[in-house]
Amino acid sequence: MSSLYAALEERLSRAFDAVSPGADPVLRPSEHADFQANGALGLAKVLGQSPREVAQRVIDVLDIADLARVEIAGPGFINVVVSVDEMSQRLVDLLSNERLGVERRSARRVVIDYSAPNVAKEMHVGHLRSTVIGDSLARLHRFLGDEVIARNHVGDWGTPFGMLIEHLLDLGEAEAVASLSVGDLDSFYRAARAKFDADETFRERSRARVVSLQSGDEETRRLWQILVDQSVAYFSEVYEALDVELTAADVVGESAYNDDLESVLHDLAAKDLLVESEGAQCVFPPGFVGRDGEPQPLIVRKSDDGFGYAATDLAAVRDRVGRLGADEIYYVVGSPQSQHFQMVFSVARLAGWLPEWVHCEHVAFGSVLGPDRKMFKSRTGETVKLIALLDDATEAARREVTARRPEIGVEEAESLARDVARAAIKYADLSTDRLRDYVFDLDRMISAEGDTGPYLQYAHARIRALFRRAGIERAPHVTPLLHEPSERALALGLLGWPDAVEATVRTSQPHRLCSYLFDVAQRFSTFYEECPVLNAPEGVRESRLALAELTARTLAQGLALLGIAAPEQM
Ligand code: ARG
Repeated sequence: MSSLYAALEERLSRAFDAVSPGADPVLRPSEHADFQANGALGLAKVLGQSPREVAQRVIDVLDIADLARVEIAGPGFINVVVSVDEMSQRLVDLLSNERLGVERRSARRVVIDYSAPNVAKEMHVGHLRSTVIGDSLARLHRFLGDEVIARNHVGDWGTPFGMLIEHLLDLGEAEAVASLSVGDLDSFYRAARAKFDADETFRERSRARVVSLQSGDEETRRLWQILVDQSVAYFSEVYEALDVELTAADVVGESAYNDDLESVLHDLAAKDLLVESEGAQCVFPPGFVGRDGEPQPLIVRKSDDGFGYAATDLAAVRDRVGRLGADEIYYVVGSPQSQHFQMVFSVARLAGWLPEWVHCEHVAFGSVLGPDRKMFKSRTGETVKLIALLDDATEAARREVTARRPEIGVEEAESLARDVARAAIKYADLSTDRLRDYVFDLDRMISAEGDTGPYLQYAHARIRALFRRAGIERAPHVTPLLHEPSERALALGLLGWPDAVEATVRTSQPHRLCSYLFDVAQRFSTFYEECPVLNAPEGVRESRLALAELTARTLAQGLALLGIAAPEQM
């Protein structure tokens, strides 16, 4: 069954179409009615009639009486007020529908490239954003029935590995493993870097080591693997702590494409796309110019013969389409890499690796800022460990939980504190338009008031508490009555769920789902203030319990798609 919005739009489209083929009703939720169609305004100019006349012509041919009442308003808007019967009937259907009206679509194979931290480097807040946004997109696509292939494009190759391996040898394997396994990746990296900068013989050794690594020397590969394994094990701990569905099996790092790079170069040469520029092998995709107005190259092979970041990404696109059979590919990476991806996509299209029917998109995002509105760093100017952020949030949540519920057991308090902490951090990230920067403000994000993750968790838990008091698990399947304006407003909100999910997936913008959930929670809270539930007369009580149940399930389902738990009790 299509959503309420889709059903109304369909009828209106038909009528608009009859008046002027292809005309769009431009239907939106409205404060003046349930929905408003503004399409007559644009059409008026085309038809040389007044908008009200056009609106009247549309209404004359509109077949919608079984769903809604319509009237012309203002300069030529068509106000749409949905019939109570239609709404109630749809709500009843939802009570027995586990997916709350969201239909599975025919599965698409979707590759999502996200998280992608770098070996022997601490994950920074940019990786937090990529991880949290990517995880939510993966959940959303899976929910719609898509087959999701997660790709953790870990940075596990390149010249720094020479110095990292030499440093590992200096420390001794056991010592190195111990230091990496506590997750102190940055100090390992910094120590290697310091020696590299200060010590000529270390520099020499490191360079020689890069050569052995690239030529496939077995012992060098083994040492490199230690660095990779330790780092990936650490990343997995972070994912688990964040409750993110990425595992070691999703790691297909840059090095995985090493054997493809020569053939990428070869293919590009065969298609006459390669140009030598200052000793490097480049492609100049049309339409990309630098600040100086000169055409911008995508460097495939550097002048020192090494392959870089771009070559790997080209090999990855080719693999994702050619071997994995992707219908859609998403790269959840910060905005600064926008030009890089546009160029990679463009070259991949030129080379024929990315046919036009494959949707390929850079899901870009802004920065996380500190309270000073500069890049978020620790007081000493270092990158902030994600784990430390989560620990701080958990600590704050634990204090709050034990203050509010002194009787709670240690274990439950701990698990609740973790759920609340993750909700706080993830929701703060997901609820801002991803292209915008946001300030990392723990107090605000963990607060149970305002547009926060914990607020939505409370809203859900409060409804579950209502059911506990009623002594039932679920509401009886009655037809909701919708007499009060706040009941009606809540019902309309609940019926918007499939559209919210669809719009979120279509735009890869989790903040749309967040605003939807926040709106539903607020509609519920108004309803709950105005309409007694458990003390309502028989009949009304069951109807209101049904609305409450649908709200709780919508919130829980929505939070799950954001990667946030919805505890039964807070
Ligand atoms: N490792 C990179 C970084 O930390 C991100 C990689 C993004 N994915 C890709 N296919 N290039 O910036």
